[in-house]
Amino acid sequence: MIIRPARNMLGSIRLPGDKSISHRYAMLGGIAHGTTRLANFSTGADCASTLSCLRQLGCVVNSTPAGLVEIEGRGWFQQPSSSLDCGNSGSTMRMMSGLLAGQPIVCDLHGDESLSRRPMARVMTPLRLMGAEISAAAGDRPPLHIKGARLRAMEYVSPVASAQVKSAVLFAGLFAEGLTSFEEPWRTRDHTEQALRAFGVELSKKRNRVNLQGGQKLKAIEAGVPGDISSAAFFLCAAVLFPDSNLLIENLLLNPTRSALLDVLKQMGARLSVINLEERHNELVGTVKVEHGQLTGAIIEGGQSVALIDELPVLAAIAPYTRDGIEIRDAKELRVKESDRIALVAKNLRAMGAVCDEREDGLKVPGNQKLHGAEIDSGGDHRIAMAFSIAALRAEGDSRIAGADSARISFPEFFTMLESVLER
Ligand code: S3P
Repeated sequence: MIIRPARNMLGSIRLPGDKSISHRYAMLGGIAHGTTRLANFSTGADCASTLSCLRQLGCVVNSTPAGLVEIEGRGWFQQPSSSLDCGNSGSTMRMMSGLLAGQPIVCDLHGDESLSRRPMARVMTPLRLMGAEISAAAGDRPPLHIKGARLRAMEYVSPVASAQVKSAVLFAGLFAEGLTSFEEPWRTRDHTEQALRAFGVELSKKRNRVNLQGGQKLKAIEAGVPGDISSAAFFLCAAVLFPDSNLLIENLLLNPTRSALLDVLKQMGARLSVINLEERHNELVGTVKVEHGQLTGAIIEGGQSVALIDELPVLAAIAPYTRDGIEIRDAKELRVKESDRIALVAKNLRAMGAVCDEREDGLKVPGNQKLHGAEIDSGGDHRIAMAFSIAALRAEGDSRIAGADSARISFPEFFTMLESVLER
């Protein structure tokens, strides 16, 4: 994919459904009673992996290219006849593990080359403590082998801030006897809690702790999935780069545990407003209008790094165009995503002529730098491919994004939608 520099971004867009919410609604639909009907389901390959795992587990799943998905849940899963293919999706593998841990079945889960390198001990440890038999390849990497069991509820204090781990434990807790309690070191996205409530599950929350009683029955839902804010991030970060830009993003997920990018952009000087705010199945949804503003700079650390975890690559990629630069700390998790995102961001910024300081847990990117077009190495990682497509819009000369088709993992429409709002 060749990206030519642009002059402006104008127009209005609606995005396919949020990836995190689509995974959760589909999985919970699979174990609920009745038919779950979803509209604007994520069009990404990751969520298709979740649907195909559900089919392998005996659920009847119908989906259309227009984003309508119907899942007939029976409250339990059937023994699959082959290994579950999770593709590139860490969310699928980790969260499904939680659902499988309490089912009377034995199964294997595998993934592609990138997923096969990702750490699974973070879900294996708590699920074993609850009574599941679970093993993995060397270094606790996929494939996983899970033998479900009668689970015991437990109190778990997670050493890692991960919504996937929280979800795996809470999902297992649905099938456990007693009260499961999960505490996280920093607040992570809360879609699992909101989705469980939407499916009729009672749970309580206090600070960073969630409690859930096992044995509750889930009731199917009908829902529209709000537009994906992590996909919107690329457009928001592009719009702020052009002096005359004006972009409207409708039907966008604005859950406060996901919308930290809006706060950071605003704090840095972007002109941003939210209208038509409403709540659907406990999730906030609204329209965001964004215009240019000379961006100052930011230091992102602690809980803010956790809240922005999927948006950090694109923020780092536009950092050279800010006045004071952006420093990212406490984001070591970026090294174990679909790629080592710290290393690849640093490599690609340098390829475009920027200076930056790569650290174990983040990056420091000085501001006020000029970039030139370059050959970008996406490492097959969707968010790196899209982040550097945005950086390329303000560079001098064309850029070539190697592995650009990885955008299909979360956002297959990315390049066409981007072209539709760019002026050259
Ligand atoms: C996700 C949680 C995050 C995020 C991922 C989706 C989720 O991962 O990076 O893209 O839907 O729960 P971690 O739980 O590993 O932080």
